[in-house]
Amino acid sequence: LLPTPEDCGRVVADAVAGSVLAALARGGPVVLGLATGSSPLLAYRELLRRHAEEGLDLTGVQAFLLDEYVGLPAGHPESYREVIRRELTDALGLDPAVVHGPDGAAPDPLRAAREYEAQLRAAGSVAVQVLGIGANGHLGFNEPGSSLASRTRLKTLTEQTRQDNARFFGDDVAAVPRHVITQGLGTILDADHLVLVATGEHKADAVAAAVEGPVTASCPGSVLQLHPHVTVVVDEAAGSRLS
Ligand code: F6R
Repeated sequence: LLPTPEDCGRVVADAVAGSVLAALARGGPVVLGLATGSSPLLAYRELLRRHAEEGLDLTGVQAFLLDEYVGLPAGHPESYREVIRRELTDALGLDPAVVHGPDGAAPDPLRAAREYEAQLRAAGSVAVQVLGIGANGHLGFNEPGSSLASRTRLKTLTEQTRQDNARFFGDDVAAVPRHVITQGLGTILDADHLVLVATGEHKADAVAAAVEGPVTASCPGSVLQLHPHVTVVVDEAAGSRLS
């Protein structure tokens, strides 16, 4: 629990850089799991600052996204592949070829989901997975009701999530895709280290339910309680309903 979102960004950047650099030092392939959305942006900016000013070097990392919209053409500015390149990986000096995401433009999204799961497994274990949480407790795009053991698959977004994300589509809910491909909760739990970041009052209920409530599919974020190495980073507002 930290005073401000900026403090959260620094602590998340510490956790990510720490886990990735330790994995790079051990040798072998290193996989970094990335979330999109607003929550990790300050952490990503901090990683970029360290890259530019302090020589933080993540060369050798393979980056894998949590999820992707279905139906946006490849290269659409709000597709998560494009967002993460723009916000993080290009400026970190990572080649687009090492930045992977589900293929939301594939003619057969069911197959694209299975292929992404296989690609992720073949890459080795995820050293650190950055996560945000939805106001309804979703993790990745595993909306409430998702199986705790789920693998990467096609999902339908809830109306609330589409409304929450309309801000990225000119406040036009109709422009927000209805379907997504998301890593499953079981897939997310396979990562070595999970780092959840949440800021703002609107996340307070979801954070309390995920951290202190029962482990249940009605709050997908509660699966974090099943993992042995989780770092939850919240500001005062998002942590305000923790007991
Ligand atoms: C994004 C993702 C989502 C977001 C969540 C919170 O890749 O998987 O679970 O982390 O919707 O979104 P923000 O951070 O925009 O509040």
